[in-house]
Parts: sequence; C-alpha cells; structure tokens
Amino acid sequence: MEPWEEHAIKRPHLPERVTVYEVGPRDGLQNEKESLPVEVRVEYVDRLTESGLPAIEAGSFVSAKAVPQLADTEEVFRRIHRASGTRYPALVPNVRGLERAIAAGVREVAVFTAASETFNRHNINAGVDESIERFRPVVSRAREEKIRVRGYVSTAFGCPYEGTVSPEAVREVVHKLLDLPVDEISIGDTIGVATPAGVYEVVETLYDSGVTRGVLALHFHDTRGTGLANVYAGLQCGIASYDASSGGLGGCPYAPGAAGNLATEDLLYMLEGLRIETGVSLPKVVEASRFLAGALGHRPPGRYLAAVW
Ligand code: HMG
Ligand code: MG
Repeated sequence: MEPWEEHAIKRPHLPERVTVYEVGPRDGLQNEKESLPVEVRVEYVDRLTESGLPAIEAGSFVSAKAVPQLADTEEVFRRIHRASGTRYPALVPNVRGLERAIAAGVREVAVFTAASETFNRHNINAGVDESIERFRPVVSRAREEKIRVRGYVSTAFGCPYEGTVSPEAVREVVHKLLDLPVDEISIGDTIGVATPAGVYEVVETLYDSGVTRGVLALHFHDTRGTGLANVYAGLQCGIASYDASSGGLGGCPYAPGAAGNLATEDLLYMLEGLRIETGVSLPKVVEASRFLAGALGHRPPGRYLAAVW
C-alpha cells in the first residue's frame, strides 16, 4: 500500500527543536534602497531580541562603498541591548572586518564565500580558493579571541551568472571551510531557485562525504515561493538550524534577481504547527517587522505578516 492511501499516512520524524537564526538586520537591510539611521537599526535589533530569538545577525563589517546600508555597524553593536540568551553575529569579509568587529565587542562572526566563481567575484572580488585563503588569517585571529566563526556558502542551488551549480561544487567548498576550520556552515540559496529535490541532493552529497548534520544550517530566499517546502525537506534530513529574515526582507545587492529571504514569521508559523520548539515568540517578531515597515515606509513581503496586517 502506498503511504498516501487512506489511514496509511506516515508522519516523518523531524527534529524536536530548531534554531532560528535571524538575518533581518543584515541580509534584510542590505537590500533596501534606503539606508536607515543607526537608532532605527538598534531599535529593530532590540525588538527582535524581545522575541527570544537565539541568534540575530546584527550587521556586517564590509566596505561601505559595497553596502552603504550597513555602514556604521559598529555603532549598532555599541548601542544594542544584548540579552544573555541571544547571540549577535556579524558578517566579515576579511581581517579588517574582523578587527572592526572585535573593537565593537562582537563575539561571533560569519565569513562568506560561494559555490560559484562568478558570483563570488561580483560579491567579494575574489574567486572561491582566493576567498578561502583570505579567511585563513580571519579564522586564526578569531580563534585567538575565542570568537565563533560561521561560514556561508552562497549560490549553493544556482548562480545568477553561471546558472546550475552542482552539489559536488557545494561539497568542495564546504570541506574547504570545514578545514579552516569554521564552526558552522550555512548553505545559501542566494537567488531562491531551490526546490526540495535540490535540498535532498545537496544534503545527501554532504552527508555522503562525511559532513554531519550538526554543523549545517540552511539559508533560503523565498523568491519563487519554495522557501518553506525547502525547510521541510531540510527538517526531513535532520537539519535543525534555519536562517530567516523578519518580514521576509532581503537579498544580495550582487545577486541580480534575488528577492526576500524566507520570512521569520512564516518559518515560525510552520514550525509551531509542526510542534517544533524554537523558544521564539511569533507575535513579538511581528511587532519588530511592523516597526521596521513603519521606518522603511513599505510593507515587507512575508505572507504571515500580510495575513495579520
Ligand atoms: P576589494 O575591492 O577586493 O578590496 O573588495 P580592497 O581591499 O581593495 O578594498 C576596497 C575598498 O574597501 C577600500 O576602500 C578598502 O579600504 C575598503 P577605498 O580605498 O576604495 O576607499 N575595505 C573595507 N572597508 C571597511 N571594512 C572592511 C573593508 N575591506 C576593504 N572590512 C570586499 C573586497 C570584500 C571588501 C568588498 O567586495 C566588499 O565589502 N563586499 C561586500 C559584499 C557584501 O557584503 N555582500 C552581501 C553579503 S553576502 C550575502 O548576502 C549572501 C548571504 O546572505 C548568503 C546567501 O544568501 O547566499 C550571506
Ligand atoms: Mg542571503
């Protein structure tokens, strides 16, 4: 009998608890036309903190010419009210970024590379191997300071310049990052082209090569409406860490066609329905998104938010 026949539906075994890693103040804001004043960015992070999120990526220490929206991230870090149960990572592209982060009291950073050469060149002006060499001194300096390092692999399911990306290309860069070593790897669907089949394929390729599920996080952009389906596929693979952006804002200025991240509210709504614990208050995230919408002057694209607006 097939599982979908009457009375034979099997519920898959899913993780009981999931970490929601909020990227709104970084990935969300970097793609907005307008640069928000520091005090607004601080209040946004503080409101997100009130929701009990375990991790909030509060900004990036990149070139202000490349991403003007996130200039003054040191000021944001200086002013936010940090809660003991929340981590506040920041994106750093090089040693200079790391030193800025350390000076601002950051205790967790993320380096970022990609599974495709052309996107990486547009984004950080380095090929994949070159970027790994750039990260080597970043990781050793971070270790000295006991700073946790996450590694992002962008364009893991497709590249805006090269098109299809193979799971083997993802596997290669993941191992290069693990060898540095980084503590966690976020696999990114930068332009939102992934479907559950691609998620199974990439995760299976990683597991087959010895990568353990505990080091993996998934980062979906909901450009084509497959974000939650992709999370569900990831849950079926046992992955228990997901990036999301409050309100569903976001995208990468160097990835043409990239639209919003998977909305934190949409993710929380589905996880709550699945009885998966997150420790995060959905209404409080909605409040943070409403506050941000007021400051930006437009409504973010998240679906849950639209339903309760
Ligand atoms: P470059 O041109 O190769 O580097 O840029 P450079 O060393 O020649 O420096 C160029 C300029 O940047 C110089 O200034 C440096 O001083 C300055 P100028 O002399 O022209 O006035 N600079 C810095 N300024 C502040 N902080 C620094 C820093 N480093 C250099 N740390 C670089 C290389 C990486 C710096 C540049 O390309 C850059 O900043 N790129 C940022 C790209 C970015 O932030 N993209 C978005 C985030 S990635 C993403 O969204 C994907 C993700 O969400 C996952 C997913 O969705 O897949 C993570
Ligand atoms: Mg992203």
